[in-house]
Amino acid sequence: MTPYLFHAGTMSPEERQRFAGFALAPLDRETPARPPYLVLREGRCGVVYDDARLPFLPPAFDPRQASAQSLLARAVGLHVRPSKRILDAMAGWGSDGLELAALGARVTMVEASMLVWALLRERIEASTVVVEALVHGSAAGVMATGTWDVIYLDPMFPGRGRKGLAKLPMQVLRAIVDDSVDAPMSLLDTARRHASERVVVKRRRTDPMLGRPDWQLKGTTVRFDVYRGTACHTTE
Ligand SMILES: C[S@@+](CC[C@H](N)C(=O)[O-])C[C@H]1O[C@@H](n2cnc3c(N)ncnc32)[C@H](O)[C@@H]1O
Repeated sequence: MTPYLFHAGTMSPEERQRFAGFALAPLDRETPARPPYLVLREGRCGVVYDDARLPFLPPAFDPRQASAQSLLARAVGLHVRPSKRILDAMAGWGSDGLELAALGARVTMVEASMLVWALLRERIEASTVVVEALVHGSAAGVMATGTWDVIYLDPMFPGRGRKGLAKLPMQVLRAIVDDSVDAPMSLLDTARRHASERVVVKRRRTDPMLGRPDWQLKGTTVRFDVYRGTACHTTE
C-alpha cells in the first residue's frame, strides 16, 4: 500500500518530486490515514507512528559520537583498514552506518521500509557524513548485485526485549516496520556469499546465535557475531 505523506501548506515542486512515491495529502484533511504516515511541515519531515499523532524525527547524527574503539568498529575491523566497503543491509535510522562512514568506511545503506528510508535520507542529507548510497529495497536484492568487504546485519526480531526498555527511536521503528521483511538466517547465508571479509550481525547480548559465528564481541547489552565471508576479493 502506498504510504501517506501529509503536508502543512503548499509543497514545492522539488518536495513533490522528492516524495513522489508517497500519496500526498494536505494535513488539514478531516480523516487522516491510520498511522504510520509522514508529516511534512516547514521543510521538516517526521513520522506519525501511533494514535498520539506526534511526529517523530530521527535525531541529528553527531559524527563526534563515532569512535574507532567502539564495539561495532572493532567487529567490522575498521582498526585494520578504515576505508572498507560496507553494506549496511538493514539500515534503520542509519546510526550504525553513519558511525562507520564517519570513521572512513565507504558505506552503502539498504532499507526496506519506505517510511524509514525517506526519513533516513533526510537524516543523511542533514549530516556532514558522506554515505556512498542509500537504497530503498531488500537486503537480499541489493546483495545479489555485488560484493562488499563487510556486510552488516542488524535485524529486528518480533517481540525483541521489553518495549519499555527500548529507546524511542527503536520503539518507533518497531511500531512502523513490518517484521516479515526480516529473515535473518537466510540473509546470513546470502550475506556470507557476498562478503569477501566478514559478515557482522548485531544481537542483544542474550539473543540466540544464528548458526555458528567465527568469533564474537560482547558489550553490556549487545553482542556482535562475526562470520567469515566467502566471496572473492573485489579489486575496487
Ligand atoms: C534494528 S533496525 C536497524 C537499526 C540500525 N542499525 C540503526 O543504527 O538505526 C532494522 C531495520 O532493518 C530493516 N529491514 C528488515 N529486514 C530488511 C530486509 N530484508 N531488507 C532491508 N531492510 C530490512 C527494517 O525495516 C528496520 O528498519
